[in-house]
Amino acid sequence: MENLTLHKNILKSPALLKRCVCRSVMNVPVDEAQFMSILLKVMNAKKTIEIGVFTGYSLLSTALALPPDGKIIGIDVDREAYETGLPFIQKAGMEHKIDFIQTDALSALHDLIEKKHEKTFDYAFVDAEKRDFIKYHELLLKLVKKGGIIAYDNTLWIGTVAMSQDEKLDDSIWQYRKPILEFNTYITNDTRVESSILSIGDGEVNARSHKEEDDLISHLTAHITTLQSQFDSRNQLHASDH
Ligand SMILES: C[S@@+](CC[C@H](N)C(=O)[O-])C[C@H]1O[C@@H](n2cnc3c(N)ncnc32)[C@H](O)[C@@H]1O
Repeated sequence: MENLTLHKNILKSPALLKRCVCRSVMNVPVDEAQFMSILLKVMNAKKTIEIGVFTGYSLLSTALALPPDGKIIGIDVDREAYETGLPFIQKAGMEHKIDFIQTDALSALHDLIEKKHEKTFDYAFVDAEKRDFIKYHELLLKLVKKGGIIAYDNTLWIGTVAMSQDEKLDDSIWQYRKPILEFNTYITNDTRVESSILSIGDGEVNARSHKEEDDLISHLTAHITTLQSQFDSRNQLHASDH
């Protein structure tokens, strides 16, 4: 019991969490990149977008998972970071699939909507400003096709989403707990998508936008369930009469 408390306290140590933020939160870990790669191939994704590129690790794994004529738009304010990783992208022969745009994510998304990219993306990966996740979501719903997937990184935010509000952690970490909690509630209640939070990496929400036929199928399923229960109660009444 004493050991368990000790372990729990070590996991909450500000020094350890800060080390996690600095060392592994910038690029997604290998298992998350592998999961994304499989998902993109299963979906037959051709046109994707990434918000928050940094040195291009998730960008490169996405490009590698796309078909030869696939395209990914990568958006980041930091061109220097992208150029640091660019030689690896070139070495992998993936540069032709990538369109890097150096700008703020919100203005890039508005711009893409204006330039008639609505409902053209199969997949979007969001890994930038956590306080803007809800705004990104609203814009990406316009850009991603019905049935497409929008994935959001860091939705467990180093475990802080499960911590009590009274915890005292370094503000550099704690400041994102509330926006991430708000985003997780928002996406859970969003009836336009079907979503799931994966405990992979730092937590990844995958939200699939509904197709029209999904709405029709759920409408028909609800209708059949009502008819079935009416039928069952009529049968019960009939049985009690005899
Ligand atoms: C966690 S890193 C992305 C890591 C990358 N997805 C990977 O896994 O290899 C976050 C990136 O988001 C970028 N960023 C933060 N706020 C942004 C904004 N408002 N618009 C565009 N990019 C932003 C930062 O410059 C940083 O490079």
